[in-house]
Amino acid sequence: MLDSRIEEAINDQINYELYSAYIYYSMQSWFLDRNMGGMAGWMGIQVMEEMSHAQIFFNYVNERGGRVLLKGIEGPQTEFDSPLDVFQTALEHEQKVTARINAIMDLAIELKDHASVQFLHWFVAEQVEEEATASEIAGKLEWAQDAPAALYQIDSELGTRTFTTPSPLAGD
Ligand code: FEO
Repeated sequence: MLDSRIEEAINDQINYELYSAYIYYSMQSWFLDRNMGGMAGWMGIQVMEEMSHAQIFFNYVNERGGRVLLKGIEGPQTEFDSPLDVFQTALEHEQKVTARINAIMDLAIELKDHASVQFLHWFVAEQVEEEATASEIAGKLEWAQDAPAALYQIDSELGTRTFTTPSPLAGD
């Protein structure tokens, strides 16, 4: 049985993962509006990733005998200054997600909830990747600035991203 404090923290995190999907949907829309199809596609995959994260938490709460209670999702930022601003915003957002995952992990450790500690390890590793990816793209865009050829190259590169079902959902 899941401790009610962990249940509440994960319920909040489900909401935050869905909010993350909203943010990336909003970023996808911003790129589509500017005919940057590669970056828009990259954001579309990111939306799917965030929905998967929510699903992984959702499954875990149910598996441990808890109940998911969905809450309203805050509206996302809709305006950005540039592609660089979008990815810097994404990086800042992922840093907030990391802090939240760490706080849930701290709670699980405090409660000696070993199952939750083990479950959360996947998210700790995932956040290292999430931050590294956003940081790398922001770095490239910082270097490219407004040079159209460089932006075109980055857009094409990001457009090759494909979705891979995260291992907790793939049953690996
Ligand atoms: Fe669900 Fe981007 O962290």
